Amino acid sequence: MPVNFSKVLIAPSVLAADFANLGAEVCGAQAAGADWIHLDVMDGHFVDNLSFGPALCAAVRKQVDIPTDIHLMIERPDHYLDRFLPSASNVTIHVESDDNDIAGTLLRIREAGCTAGLSLRPGTPFEVIAPYLDQLDLVLVMTVEPGFGGQSFMPEMLPKIEKIAAERARLGLMFHIQVDGGIKAPEARLCLAAGANVLVAGSSVFGKPDLAEAIRVLRS
Ligand code: DX5
Ligand code: ZN
Repeated sequence: MPVNFSKVLIAPSVLAADFANLGAEVCGAQAAGADWIHLDVMDGHFVDNLSFGPALCAAVRKQVDIPTDIHLMIERPDHYLDRFLPSASNVTIHVESDDNDIAGTLLRIREAGCTAGLSLRPGTPFEVIAPYLDQLDLVLVMTVEPGFGGQSFMPEMLPKIEKIAAERARLGLMFHIQVDGGIKAPEARLCLAAGANVLVAGSSVFGKPDLAEAIRVLRS
């Protein structure tokens, strides 16, 4: 997954898919033009929801050829990381997690041959991730409070995206800026204009009758 942040990438989130037909769902998303498959892992502690773990990520990985993007909304990414790495192209951890060696965990992700992402909740200021920018392939700006699909986009996150893009340019770094939560076509436009290039989309892709059309609308 080489970093080219001028290309718009669409990452449908499995959280909104039909779990009973997951193979068909993710293959359908790939055939419809999805660039990555986004996997939202929740532990019931870091967020107030439980989703799925390594076994489901491995099952999805077997079904698709496009990169798998694992978003760990868990308290101890350092503890569980090795169980996800074999199924991942990218792993994103949260800066607010209880991992007391964020830099070390990011390095472990890269040493395993994956790209490394760092995410921040809506209430977390940009300054908290600033020390890690040169160790990242991706910054994930949460545009809803993590935990559930189908929430409303928070427009007050747009200045944060702009700030991260400005810092990236100032420092001459190369990382994706991803947004996640409440992304439909109007929100996609706002986020792309602010400097994001990877759009996570749950309910605006899975559940739509025509996945290809849903992805095309987001991309344009
Ligand atoms: C929220 C998850 C998202 C979620 C997005 O905690 O990280 O990936 O599935 O869902 P929508 O696009 O429906 O807001
Ligand atoms: Zn996510």
